[in-house]
Amino acid sequence: MNVRAPRKGESIDLLLEDIDDKGRAFGQFEGRTVRTRGGVPGSHVRVRVHRRRRSEIEAAIEEVLQPGENSVDARCRHFGSCGGCSFQNVLYRTQLAGLERSLERLLEPITALRPGLEMAPTLGCSEPWHYRNKMDFTFGNRRWIETSEPEGVASDFALGLHVPGRYDKVLDVQSCDIAFKEATPILNTARELALEAGLSGWDVHAHDGLLRHLLLRRSFASGEILAALFTTEEERSVVDPYLSKLLDTHPEITSCVQRIKPGSAMVASGGEERLLKGEGFITEKLGGLDYRISTDTFFQTNSLQAELLCKQVVAAAGVEEDEVVYDLCCGCGPWALSVAAMRRAASSPVYGFELVESAVEDARENARNNGIDNAVFIAGDIAKVLTPQSLNERKLPAPSLCIVDPPRAGLPPKVVRALTELRPRRIVYVSCNPRSAVRDLTLLGEGAYYVASIQPIDLFPHTPHLECVFTVELDGGGF
Ligand SMILES: C[S@@+](CC[C@H](N)C(=O)[O-])C[C@H]1O[C@@H](n2cnc3c(N)ncnc32)[C@H](O)[C@@H]1O
Repeated sequence: MNVRAPRKGESIDLLLEDIDDKGRAFGQFEGRTVRTRGGVPGSHVRVRVHRRRRSEIEAAIEEVLQPGENSVDARCRHFGSCGGCSFQNVLYRTQLAGLERSLERLLEPITALRPGLEMAPTLGCSEPWHYRNKMDFTFGNRRWIETSEPEGVASDFALGLHVPGRYDKVLDVQSCDIAFKEATPILNTARELALEAGLSGWDVHAHDGLLRHLLLRRSFASGEILAALFTTEEERSVVDPYLSKLLDTHPEITSCVQRIKPGSAMVASGGEERLLKGEGFITEKLGGLDYRISTDTFFQTNSLQAELLCKQVVAAAGVEEDEVVYDLCCGCGPWALSVAAMRRAASSPVYGFELVESAVEDARENARNNGIDNAVFIAGDIAKVLTPQSLNERKLPAPSLCIVDPPRAGLPPKVVRALTELRPRRIVYVSCNPRSAVRDLTLLGEGAYYVASIQPIDLFPHTPHLECVFTVELDGGGF
């Protein structure tokens, strides 16, 4: 029987059954999957259809008819406006179970090829609040007005986070329950002082304004805090008194820099640095080693769970005494250094490859500071460095073990092909995006590799993201 699909604008009632990896809850309505933001599995809801595809419907919640037992009150006053934590109103254990099922569905192309291959249970986070060690707040001159606010409130200055889907609007964040605890008071002082001094926030349309970003990082090991203020111009006469008041109010900020970055790029990195307090970096611990983290350094944002991740990566690597190890996309070196630290006397070094020069400098400094002399860090794009010619020119031996931890986009296909030609006995693939992982692992499968184990880890509670460690073995027969 052909059932009529509900029309755009129509209201329908349904039971929400589960969550997906895009931050939505979903249920079924007459053979179609209906997805909606802000919903909780187990709740009966009335939704209004706003988009219709062949078998999928997107809808917005109009009314919760009956909340289910998985519902909890969202802690954050900005829940619903801020795109940060879409599952705050879902019990944490329900989030984990739902995301695990979502991951299982996404990984089917991999698991279906290998009977008996099962995902290990997800390693959840014992501290699911205030876990983020880094926050990048944006200044803007177009404030997002929340539905709870009275009409006519001032809207020409904001310091907070971009509203999802609105690159020009900034949500004026007054508190954040996933940021480290000290971040909120610093954020609020930074806003008050900027307003008091009449400093302008960035105008994305006119490409005008002084203040761009306030980036805050905290070491969970030492308690040190780094504040980086991004501005379009140096403007010492206004920036220095502004930052000096911020530092007087918050002596817990142990280091402070100004980054001068003209232009319209919307990312809090790069620019010329001016040091105003401390050393321009903080020191974090991971796997018993010290890491220098400066403004641009990539570092796992959940320090507590990074410990678990590090243990998983090292265990999955199962490094042998004298084998050659590559760590591709090594950042400031945590995986390379953890493996190198396990076999300090080994004659073969671990080679780390990384695109960002400053991260490579950090990695080298981290090796020195931890007394590790069998790790070598190479700056460059792995798509260019990992060719036989480039490896020959650099006189690098072929690896028998590779750790890869690419950004969300995954590995360039050229790099996957290069890996299958280098034929390491094992590849440990660390993924923050299962969709690109499936693509890369499928290509590796065509090159005679198979996935031997899958370990998900929750590094980002209340968000739809799960990290995953895949152990990939060479067997000559493919998947
Ligand atoms: C997910 S991070 C992992 C970093 C590190 N493994 C860690 O856990 O801290 C990905 C890293 O890949 C680097 N990267 C991205 N594209 C790259 C490329 N084409 N070549 C080399 N490194 C790249 C980024 O700069 C970033 O440091």
